[in-house]
Amino acid sequence: MSDPFPPCPIPPDRLAEAADLLAQGGLVAFPTETVYGLGGDATRESAVAAIFAAKGRPSFNPLISHVASAEAAAALVEFGPLAQALAARFWPGPLTLVLRRRSDSPISLLATAGLDSIAVRVPDHPVALALIRAFGRPLAAPSANRSGAVSPTTAAHVAQSLGDKVGMILDGGPCRVGVESTVLDLTGAVPVLLRPGGIGLDALEAVLGLRPLCPRPDHASSSTPRAPGMLSSHYAPALPVRLEAAEAAPGEALLGFGPGAATLNLSPGGDPTEAAANLFAMLRALDRPDFTGIAVRPIPDAGLGLAINDRLRRAAAPRG
Ligand code: TXA
Ligand code: MG
Repeated sequence: MSDPFPPCPIPPDRLAEAADLLAQGGLVAFPTETVYGLGGDATRESAVAAIFAAKGRPSFNPLISHVASAEAAAALVEFGPLAQALAARFWPGPLTLVLRRRSDSPISLLATAGLDSIAVRVPDHPVALALIRAFGRPLAAPSANRSGAVSPTTAAHVAQSLGDKVGMILDGGPCRVGVESTVLDLTGAVPVLLRPGGIGLDALEAVLGLRPLCPRPDHASSSTPRAPGMLSSHYAPALPVRLEAAEAAPGEALLGFGPGAATLNLSPGGDPTEAAANLFAMLRALDRPDFTGIAVRPIPDAGLGLAINDRLRRAAAPRG
């Protein structure tokens, strides 16, 4: 059989070292196609506890279990026909499926915040896949940043925000997609979009044959963990963020989209895919004390625009 995985740029001895560290309960930051993840053994409570501690993450917000194949996912969760169809079309890729926990599932209860569901995904990145295969168990991995802060899309971002808290950082270069995976809940009567992300609604609808339910974000509050991804303030730089700005006020940085002068421009040509790849790095670059705030030009909801606007609304939300 031919190897379905693309080559991994990390040397085998360093990968083995990372797998050993995970086997000892340690944490390894690694690249995925969306953002960098902070990985630990998803089957070991102490490793999962270390992830929550390193991020300063509230323990009611569950983690995604990363696996290398749909078969591996089916050992963790009830993997029904809808999940199989979506996995066949989108895995490896930026789609996370929330499914019912199997009664014999080895995933830590802390990783799922005690819910009877588990979020699973197969990342589309050669380093992530090689690491999961070398380790041989599912990796619990949230984005590798302090809870509530801007997600990391380079190894340098991880070092800046979690450097002293992570055993090893595997550098796979900048993340291709730049916003997190789409989170789709398949545990109910109809699929529910819990977080817009790298796979758009039209693509999901084409496989599902119906549009997933999209709860309005302002219906969620930080005290209702049913859709725990919908905490309102999140992805936030230190500076205040102002949306739908025509231009910058004095002192503000302007994050542009489309033609026109700006401090930095997500995509001068108005391409949402390019804008998603630039979003978190540019928010970080503008988050400097010589500005008073970050004003952001309007971005249409088309394509990855839905995920970008979701992240920007949370970045601009009142801080808790
Ligand atoms: O692209 C991604 O998904 C990245 C990379 C590293 O894979 N990971 C990521 O993880 O964004 P995190 O922890 O930052 O976001 C996971 C989201 C959260 O919104 C969490 O509430 C939700 O998935 N989630 C996890 N398990 C869940 C469950 N059982 N039910 C509902 N939502 C769940
Ligand atoms: Mg995150």
